[in-house]
Amino acid sequence: MTTNATTPGTASPTGTPARAAIERVGVVGSGIMGTGIAELCAKSGLDVRVAVFSETSLDTAPERLAASLDRGVAKGKLTPADRDRALARVSFTRDLGRLADRQLVIEAVKEDEALKQDLFATLDKIVEDTDAILATNTSSIPISRIAAATRRPAQVLGIHFFNPVPVLPLVEVVGSVLTDAAVVRRAETFVRDVLGKQPIVSPDRAGFLVNALLFPYLLSAVRMLESGHADADTIDQAMTQGCSHPMGPLRLADLIGLDTTVSIAQALYEEYKEPLYAPPPLLMRMTESGLLGKKTGQGFHTYA
Ligand code: 3HC
Repeated sequence: MTTNATTPGTASPTGTPARAAIERVGVVGSGIMGTGIAELCAKSGLDVRVAVFSETSLDTAPERLAASLDRGVAKGKLTPADRDRALARVSFTRDLGRLADRQLVIEAVKEDEALKQDLFATLDKIVEDTDAILATNTSSIPISRIAAATRRPAQVLGIHFFNPVPVLPLVEVVGSVLTDAAVVRRAETFVRDVLGKQPIVSPDRAGFLVNALLFPYLLSAVRMLESGHADADTIDQAMTQGCSHPMGPLRLADLIGLDTTVSIAQALYEEYKEPLYAPPPLLMRMTESGLLGKKTGQGFHTYA
């Protein structure tokens, strides 16, 4: 296995005690992002424990993970033995307390600030006597507001993955004003050398870099549809064929989830008070009506 630090207990060349390599990771949440992060960590040789919130998720989360790994096997990217080894590295629990021995916990629950703050306050107590890093995969909520719920803000940061996690190479690493610079460096090294992704350090502003750029574009597409500029297929075609994007903005919003899209837009609007970040009425009505995109089978497009 690739490691990102020297052997536990040895000294670094500068004489400061070396940190143990991150080998035990916790993931909180088993939605699309949580499962993708667990898959990536398991394929990178890490011991992964996923905390879920319902009995049902104890069945569905392993199935989702196995299905994604099977897809890798079908595409010839993974051998059946690699898949089995990755699956064996992941355990699932309903008990957050079982994350007590984790060196890094990555939270990937829904985009709800109060929920994340409660969770971080709880995780803080669970890893109390350790130097564990607590990371959030939030898409838009400033890290400092989540870190404020803990007594270890120096050990809290954002590690923001992109959907689908197994495919997209970028990861944003986001420290707050209180995050220890060494923790940010450790996370960058981990993302690059252990997970094999490309880290960038992004500012602790709502939406960081990627979503602050992406969302005005996605929301403009919704406004175009709403005002009758063009239909959904034509808007998407404009960007796939006109700009060679892998998918158009409305299909991408469906992939992200329209509820998540609303939450991110609201966080951006709250931060900047710019109309371009405000969620358009059509998006609000669709979300309120349960049309959440690909995960519910219906958003701007229909899915089997
Ligand atoms: N797991 C593993 N591999 C997957 C996968 C998954 N869930 N989904 C797709 N792949 C692989 C496929 O196996 C395939 O590999 P191959 O080319 O070696 O055969 C490759 O990815 C392409 O997949 P497909 O052929 O099935 O489908 P497409 O060519 O249509 O690509 C896509 C699908 C990868 C989703 C592509 O359309 C894409 O990159 N879209 C843009 C996605 C994007 O912008 N994501 C960012 C969203 S913003 C975000 O996540 C931030 C958050 O905070 C909101």
